[in-house]
Amino acid sequence: MERREFLSGVSATLAVICVGGLAACGGKGDDPGPANPPGGGGGGNPKLTVNLANQLTTVGSFTIASGVVLIRLAAGNVPASFAALTSTCTHMGCTLSDVNGGKIICGSTCGHGSQFNTDGSVAMGPATNALAKYTVSISGNTLTVT
Ligand code: FES
Repeated sequence: MERREFLSGVSATLAVICVGGLAACGGKGDDPGPANPPGGGGGGNPKLTVNLANQLTTVGSFTIASGVVLIRLAAGNVPASFAALTSTCTHMGCTLSDVNGGKIICGSTCGHGSQFNTDGSVAMGPATNALAKYTVSISGNTLTVT
């Protein structure tokens, strides 16, 4: 078989495969795949996931991670026992640094001392706008913030 004949045969084979519509041929890329199902499929990507078997087990405990301040407000592994808010201060965008005495504090290295209540409202300025709230869902021991 000549080189030209071989290449011609390969091209014809690939053309047949692509006409058949296989994803390997490229195209519009409109297959969302299992990680991004059409229609939302459950509320978007989680911002934060916590194992309640060994994290946030006591009332008042909190974590600041992945852009989220997550605080346990009450006993029981139900969504109402938690507050999930953005960890970005509404004053000038510093990351909130602490939760103390029921207040979320913007201080230490970047902030200017604003404090927020666990519902996100401003407790003390200079910030004037409330923190955005996130949704908490719980399945078994897994808490998910979206
Ligand atoms: S950035 Fe938070 S108080 Fe200024």
